[in-house]
Amino acid sequence: MDWKEIYNKKLVSAQEAASKIKSRDRVVIGHAVGEPKKVIEAMVRDNKKYASVEIVHMVGMGESTYAKEEMEGYFRHNSFFLGPFTREAAYSGRADFTPCFFSEIPRLFREEYLKVDVAIIQVSNPDEHGFCSFGVSNDYTKPAAECANIIIAEVNPNMPRILGDNFIHISEIDYIVEVDYPVMELKPSKISDVEKAIGENCATLIEDGATLQLGIGAIPDAVLLYLKDKKDLGIHSEMISDGVVELVETGVITNKRKSIHKDKIIVTFLMGTKKLYDFANNNSMIEMHPVDYVNDPCVISKNDNMICINSCIQIDLMGQVAAESIGLKQFSGVGGQVDFIRGAGMASKGKSIIAIPSTASNEKLSRIVPFLDEGAAVTTSRNDIHYVVTEYGVAELRGKTLKERARALINIAHPKFRSELINQWEERFKSKFDYFIYYKIHK
Ligand code: COA
Repeated sequence: MDWKEIYNKKLVSAQEAASKIKSRDRVVIGHAVGEPKKVIEAMVRDNKKYASVEIVHMVGMGESTYAKEEMEGYFRHNSFFLGPFTREAAYSGRADFTPCFFSEIPRLFREEYLKVDVAIIQVSNPDEHGFCSFGVSNDYTKPAAECANIIIAEVNPNMPRILGDNFIHISEIDYIVEVDYPVMELKPSKISDVEKAIGENCATLIEDGATLQLGIGAIPDAVLLYLKDKKDLGIHSEMISDGVVELVETGVITNKRKSIHKDKIIVTFLMGTKKLYDFANNNSMIEMHPVDYVNDPCVISKNDNMICINSCIQIDLMGQVAAESIGLKQFSGVGGQVDFIRGAGMASKGKSIIAIPSTASNEKLSRIVPFLDEGAAVTTSRNDIHYVVTEYGVAELRGKTLKERARALINIAHPKFRSELINQWEERFKSKFDYFIYYKIHK
């Protein structure tokens, strides 16, 4: 049968598609800015038809209406990464959080630790052969669709056709809902002077020909500002945003010195503005793959000179990183932080960087602390850490003793917290803080 006939037979309204979900089903929703809208709106509107539907999702860029108080009993959210619209639901007991490396989420689906009943995805228009692109979000979305009993797809002409292992044939989809809304956008962050200083310090660790992973937000954007004079950088990253476009257009990112996937940007999702989505559309330089490939530490480690840059909430004087919780309160999730830190750690000449402002909460708190807050989860262990960067400089921890790493961290803490940290250091190591080393770094 011609694929267009199959397509037409599968066309339903959003409400009809949502009616295929049954009570107690586990429903996985397409990720981040690839989140489908219309079927979720229909599902939430018809909430009284359902009981205990589990909604599995990661970074929610939409309003996560299924997690609202009035949805209790109809839907229960299970999150891999809490965000502004889901934290309250988790804190008040209406939603759950499942810890999992981003790279391992597909395995939870494939091996049925979390059996997928329904996947709701958003894809591009089909090409002339009937293949739709997952567009901006491949990550766990494609693996979830591959495991689902029922696939509901919103087909959106505004979704860019991004290449790579990023397609689904319409014969695989069970129900098609035609939609026409702009793909969600994430505006570039405002970059403060502190973030600029951090970006500049990070850039000193990046050599020509390096392959980079960068996260979301002001710090990664600030790093990109200081890469304009570098040569032949490559990208192998969980995600990219707008800042990468300019560096490709000015010839800084060429990918030509990459030791795997030469000439290609490898990513698992995108998050930015239409400028980024237009750039990615049908661009042979970009390949999207599922997250169990892109974030697999063994794959990452095949990139010589791999450098990853991530952030955190607190780091203790041993180098233990809390990146996802504030004390016992889950704030976000591990995402790909440990996947990339492990991968870069194994790569030839690889480096991992934790880049943070030295303080939080309007300079009231130091992020460099003697002990993590009670209840905080250790995201990255002290054994995996290489470099920590703040606006005050770079601390190299790999291969350093407990005493040396604590001293290096104190040297890049905010000056107003240093004397307190030095007291802790002297008490812990039963010796006098070494002012000679301190001044050598700072003068
Ligand atoms: N103690 C108490 N509160 C703290 C804190 C600390 N040490 N550090 C930060 N906070 C608070 C901030 O004040 C802020 O609260 P507010 O929003 O009410 O002002 C909030 O926590 C967020 O802090 P901030 O550092 O500004 O967040 P961010 O948006 O820059 O995100 C991480 C930082 C670490 C939470 C984020 O990068 C993350 O989730 N990382 C883990 C996942 C990851 O690394 N993925 C990698 C690839 S994308």
